[in-house]
Amino acid sequence: MPASHTRLMTPADLGFAMELTRAAGWNQTEADWRAHLALDPAGCFVTELDGRPAGTAVLADYGGRFGWLAMVLVHPEHRRRGVGTALARAAREHARERGLAQVRLDASEAGRPVYLALGFADQYGLSRYRRPPSPPAAENGDLGAREVGADEAVRAVLGWDAERFGADRGRVLRELLERPGSRTFRFPGTGAMSGYAVTRLGAPAVQLGPWLADTAEAAEALLHAALASVPDEEVIMDVPEPNADATALALRYGFAPERRFARMSWPAAPAAEDNRRIYASSGADRG
Ligand SMILES: CC(C)(COP(=O)(O)OP(=O)(O)OC[C@H]1O[C@@H](n2cnc3c(N)ncnc32)[C@H](O)[C@@H]1OP(=O)(O)O)[C@@H](O)C(=O)NCCC(=O)NCCS
Repeated sequence: MPASHTRLMTPADLGFAMELTRAAGWNQTEADWRAHLALDPAGCFVTELDGRPAGTAVLADYGGRFGWLAMVLVHPEHRRRGVGTALARAAREHARERGLAQVRLDASEAGRPVYLALGFADQYGLSRYRRPPSPPAAENGDLGAREVGADEAVRAVLGWDAERFGADRGRVLRELLERPGSRTFRFPGTGAMSGYAVTRLGAPAVQLGPWLADTAEAAEALLHAALASVPDEEVIMDVPEPNADATALALRYGFAPERRFARMSWPAAPAAEDNRRIYASSGADRG
């Protein structure tokens, strides 16, 4: 048996982390990895086999309420040797040490059995949708959402989001909103907000999400504006399956379902977020 050792990730591991990301066909960029390292340096892990990096995981602290486990990636040559399990265990132990009462994640089909064996439980499904480059399908033009700059986005979104998401994810959201290439849309354009959506650069696709709205009118206006801003890009988004309006809008605007994720929690608990209002998550690495 090769000797397994889990340690903290450093910037020197970014090349390895990107190699794993590309090998898995994931959409994250080096900017995503740098953000994880900057926000949660004590929660970024590498497991080595015989002294060579074999896999990665990240545990992000969401306002002291729960830990978000993501970027669990094992090099294809080192799979089925317990590396994924070791990484998930290390991340969960880190959550315990920080006093985080719960760990949540979006599990891929390959990852779900690993988490089930560790006592994680399913909450609900999310569908990954993909849309080829194209202008928005709706005939009508401007539906009333407005793009805002990063400062205005941070002021408008953080508190509003916490009430619907069920926890303060302000640290993570601020980084997403302020990142070069991110664009934020709000509805209506002024006054009391009833929804927002964010697009950010990925490789190869633009990721749409978070996308939250209090009404179907707000949700469509935001989707319309966000898609109109990237007519030449492929767009992906992760839609919570309990939100039937979001699924209907995705299909109407030319998205096709591609794969599924299972939102899981340890220990087992009902979902805290309001999935009538969450139309797309921030992506599997951000919840
Ligand atoms: C999902 C993933 C992280 C699992 O990593 P892994 O290192 O292969 O995971 P483990 O080895 O801990 O466990 C996987 C399986 O190997 C088995 N296993 C663990 N140790 C073993 C050993 N020493 N010998 C043989 N099998 C072993 C486990 O029982 C498990 O079996 P199961 O699939 O029948 O349940 C990896 O497949 C991967 O990177 N996939 C692509 C990206 C992805 O989907 N990541 C998960 C995101 S949520």
